[in-house]
Order: sequence, then structure tokens, then C-alpha cells
Amino acid sequence: MSKYIIEGGRPLFGEIDVQGAKNAVLPIFAACVLTKEEVTVKNVPDLADVKSMENILNNLGVTVKKEGDTRVLCAKNVLSDSIPNELAKELRSSVFLLGSVIGRIKSAQVAYPGGCDIGLRPIDIHIKGLRDLGVTIEERAGYLFCDGTHLSGGEVVLDYPSVGATENVMLAAVLAPGETVIRNAAREPEITDLQNFLNLLGAKVKGAGTPEIRIEGVTSLGGAEYAVMPDRICLGTWILAVAMCGGEAALIGGRKAEIHSLLCKLDKSSCHIREDSGIMYISAKGRPVCSERISTRPYPGFPTDLQAQYCAYASVARGTCVITENIFENRFRHVPELVKMGADITVRDRVAVIRGTSFLTGAEVTARDLRGGAALVIAGLAAEGKTVVSQVRHIDRGYQAMEKTLSNIGAKIVRI
Ligand code: EPZ
Repeated sequence: MSKYIIEGGRPLFGEIDVQGAKNAVLPIFAACVLTKEEVTVKNVPDLADVKSMENILNNLGVTVKKEGDTRVLCAKNVLSDSIPNELAKELRSSVFLLGSVIGRIKSAQVAYPGGCDIGLRPIDIHIKGLRDLGVTIEERAGYLFCDGTHLSGGEVVLDYPSVGATENVMLAAVLAPGETVIRNAAREPEITDLQNFLNLLGAKVKGAGTPEIRIEGVTSLGGAEYAVMPDRICLGTWILAVAMCGGEAALIGGRKAEIHSLLCKLDKSSCHIREDSGIMYISAKGRPVCSERISTRPYPGFPTDLQAQYCAYASVARGTCVITENIFENRFRHVPELVKMGADITVRDRVAVIRGTSFLTGAEVTARDLRGGAALVIAGLAAEGKTVVSQVRHIDRGYQAMEKTLSNIGAKIVRI
């Protein structure tokens, strides 16, 4: 199992080309099932989750050609409507395929994706939304048997602005006759990216980024060429790394507006950030003061996917930070590992209280999930001495060659 060896305590200087967004490319790949025409997707990050999605698409009969960070996908001959257990377990996001497979071939058999490291991850909102569009779904022996013979547009009110459920219903509605209205839709930027992609294929979707999305069903879709948006969670991770370690970095592709909720929680006296012509510049000097309170919320609130990284930042900042994790029930697994490095953190239920210490000390720690693993790496960059992060396979799910990215800004990190 691979590990990262980090020599911490060094300021960071250099530039990072922000990778394509994992949480945009996965639903966009699922959307390719909806058309028989060839689709070219650019700025695709080289991630384990992307590879898993490609395996699932291949299993459905979709061809995927890789040319660097570009994929050419063709779903002309979608032969199967089923996603077996071993593939569905490999990638929870395979649940997005429910909507697109049903939209394309009006039936689907998908193994229950199940929970993961950070929570139970139920899909009840997905199922209700698809049923609202006339899909009959039978849950049997760990599988969902879906019949989309009577798929048609309708009104879908989501009990909670679920990102995945919003995307699943959008994908099912694109080829459904009539109009679909999704109310209480999630507003994440990745949903706008999906809308832009779908409309390039010839779909008629509007309202992404607002709580109400309207889709007018069309009979078929064409092909397109599309570049995936930059990953705002990677962007936030790099910003917190520089804010913790000090230094200066240019983050190419960073979009300030998409991480506004994080920027509001950074100490402006020690960390200066500006955007110019599609590049974000950050300079940081001295020990920052942390925000007193962080509550994770659906977009545009503070993203749960940056909670662990902010926990690491608050561990070395001045002051005390109270973090409430409102989205997932098991998302503090990085805390015991940060405590091994000298962090002063106590957790009760969904609340972590972090009392900043002047320094962390390198230690042997274990990544327990994707974003928690990223938090341990940036803590290691700021810590004095050597940190060994094991189980980096979790990090590979969402960060493309993190050791190379960080080495480009002067970090001493190697993968063994
Ligand atoms: C997406 O997951 C992201 N994944 C997650 O990123 C992200 O943390 C999450 O949205 C919130 O922003 C992808 O886009 C691939 P949700 P998703 O449905 O769609 C509950 C990362 O690290 N819920 O908005 O699964 C659920 O239990 C990953 O990149 C139901 O109860 O998130 C959770 O508490 C982690 N029933 C909350 O809603 C449902 O049917 C948010 O889930 C669906 C969700």
C-alpha cells in the first residue's frame, strides 16, 4: 500500500494547474450514455474514481478512448442496463447512471451503492425523484430493478437539496417527454457544469445554480466537445495548504466565486488572495487566526468537502474554532490522526472544537477517507519534522498525483 513521506515546515512557492473537477466529470460521463453520438470530454483528471466510472461505462457497452486528459466516449451500442455489485461498490457515484440508463434504454438494474467511509449515503431521494417521473422501481436482493417504460416529465420536489439526486433526475428527464421541474434542487457549480454539457448535446435544461431547474424533454441528443470545470475542492485544499505553511502560489483555473464561503473564513491579515485573468494568486505570511465557527452546508454554504482541510488549518491557527458537520454523519475520522500530530481537538457527535497550537509535529498517520487524507497531507506540510501518511489510495480517488502537484510548489513529499 502506497504512502506519502513528507518533510514539513517549509513555505510553499510556485504554481499549480488546478485539475478538472471530479464531481463534475462523473455525472458528465454518466450523461454520455444518453446519446448515440461521439462525445469528447477535456480536462479530465487522472483519478481512481474516474477509472472506476470508465470501467462501469465499458461494462454497459460504452467505448472510452483516452488521449492525455481528453476522453472520447461513444455510447452508440449500449448493450446492457445493469451495473453489477462489484462495480457499484467500487464507485458510489455509479448511482448517477440510474437516470441516464433509464433515460436512454428505459430500464436499469443497479446494485445498491451502499455506504462509504463518511456515512450511510442513502439514495431514497434519488428513488423518489425517479418515481415522480413515472419510473417503477423495485428494491430486491440488494438491487434496484427499474422500469422506465412510462418515463415522462413531471414535478419533483427534493426533500433535501441532494447533489446526486438533482443530477440523477436531470439525467432521467432530458429524454423524458414533457416538462420536468425540480424544486429544492442542489445549487453546486458542478450541476451548472452538467447543465452546460447537456445543453451542448442538444438538451433543454435551465435554472441550474438555483433551487428550481426546468427540463424540456427532447427526443434525442447529438455529440459535443466539452472541457470540465476546475475542481473547487482541490483549489480550496491548495489555498489552505499555503495559508498554513506561508508562501506564494498561482493557482491556474481557480475561480474565486466558487470558494467564496471558504475565503470568508480565512484570516485576511495573514492571507491575501486575488484573481486575475482566470488565475488565483495567494500569498500568506505568519500564523493565521482561525474563524470561530464553521458549519458545513449545501452550496453556497461552507462545503463539507473542505471541512477536514479547514480542521487542519485551524489546528495551527491562533484561536479556537468550532466546526459543525451538518452533511455527513461520520466525517471526523481525520481528527484522531491530527491529534497524533499534536493537534488539540475534541469531538462530540457532529461538533469538533479545535484549539490552535503554534506547531504540529510530524507523525505516522493513516488516511481514512478522501478529504480526511488530504487534510493529513497539508497538516504534514505545516508540521515540524517527518510525517508518513499511509492508505493514500483514498487520496488517489480525488487528487491527481498529489505528490507532484505539491512538489511543484516546493513541498518535500515523496510517494513510496
Ligand atoms: C456529492 O455527494 C459529492 N460527490 C460529495 O463529494 C459531496 O460531499 C456531496 O455531494 C455534498 O456536497 C459527488 O458529487 C460524486 P448529497 P452526494 O446527495 O450526491 C443525504 C467528495 O469528497 N442524502 O448532496 O452523495 C446524504 O446522506 C464527495 O468529493 C439522503 O439522505 O451528496 C447526505 O447526508 C464526498 N438521501 C446529504 O444528503 C439521498 O437520497 C448530502 O448528500 C441522497 C442524499
